[in-house]
Amino acid sequence: MNVNGAPYRTIWLKPGDNRIVQVINQVKLPHVFEINDLASVEDVCRAICDMTVRGAGLIGASAAYGMYLASLEAPEPGFRDALQRAGNALKATRPTAANLAWAVDRMLGVIGGVSSYTERCAVAMQEANAIADEDADHCSRIGTHALPIISALAQQKAGKAVNILTHCNAGWLAFVDVGSATAPIYAAHDAGIAVHVWVDETRPRNQGASLTAWELGQHGVPHTLITDNAGGHLMQHGLVDMVITGADRVTRNGDAANKIGTYLKALAAHDNRIPMYVALPSSTFDFALRDGINSIPIEERDGAEVRYITGQTQHGAIESVRICPQKTPVRNWGFDVTPARLITQLICERGICEATEEGILSLFPERR
Ligand code: MRU
Repeated sequence: MNVNGAPYRTIWLKPGDNRIVQVINQVKLPHVFEINDLASVEDVCRAICDMTVRGAGLIGASAAYGMYLASLEAPEPGFRDALQRAGNALKATRPTAANLAWAVDRMLGVIGGVSSYTERCAVAMQEANAIADEDADHCSRIGTHALPIISALAQQKAGKAVNILTHCNAGWLAFVDVGSATAPIYAAHDAGIAVHVWVDETRPRNQGASLTAWELGQHGVPHTLITDNAGGHLMQHGLVDMVITGADRVTRNGDAANKIGTYLKALAAHDNRIPMYVALPSSTFDFALRDGINSIPIEERDGAEVRYITGQTQHGAIESVRICPQKTPVRNWGFDVTPARLITQLICERGICEATEEGILSLFPERR
């Protein structure tokens, strides 16, 4: 997608030096647009942990490039152990997004059996690039599949904008390009359909305010930032036509883990008979799990994210301020699980399906 008119992905190999991975530093957005170099698997682990890179698809692609950097670093002999250690370190960075382990295992499967160093590095680079390209392609297919849904709503609204509510950032910044929840929005906007997006700010890290608002603005999509608690009120007053969120992990029966607060939006949407769609590439499915609420690991993050809020002062400085008494106890869960029964449909690169085991397996028969 474009940044100030120039096309960018969120991750790529440095032109002229393909031993360096480059990423957009998402901690600094929207105030500063900065590109960071990642030169080792440790750099990639740190970037995932500190959320320089974040979002399920991008975490997966970053892990894939991390495994490429690990294969450049892996000693001979002993490269298999070194790759396994690198994979374990990457998998330990963040627990919820299914794409992370999926990407590491795919890379290990492809490079683990190649005994020549030169060939192994070449294969690793090729596979990481393939994972990144697929991620972008799958997101764009999600947009194509979902376009008729928005177009049908637009017809009912006779020229008035279709109001779409989204939570957190499942935009192109959360993937390699295009995004999952935003793919239908960009597809509709680019097709000339009037859309307007309600952007939940998404405490505590405010990915909606700092990332989704920024990327929609860069693409010229009309949007309005709202507080996390406003969605239910808007739904009761007919101001939301559909909800679209992304997902970090979806079980084989359709339970979907996504940024904390998604469940409350789904409940409010259900109560107001508003369709709630979850958009995801197939790399986000966890076909081994059935019961999302009891089996998806939910990341618990540092309480400082709840105690403090970061932003730009009137004078341009980026500062954090505490918003509660110094000793207030806090807890900070990063995700919640929306039960499948509250999801109208799932949208993925193979098409649209019911959020049920039968529905999902109709698109993924090889998983029966
Ligand atoms: O903690 P993050 O920013 O990595 O969380 C990911 C998200 O932004 C959301 O949960 C998103 O909707 C799914 S990621 C495609």
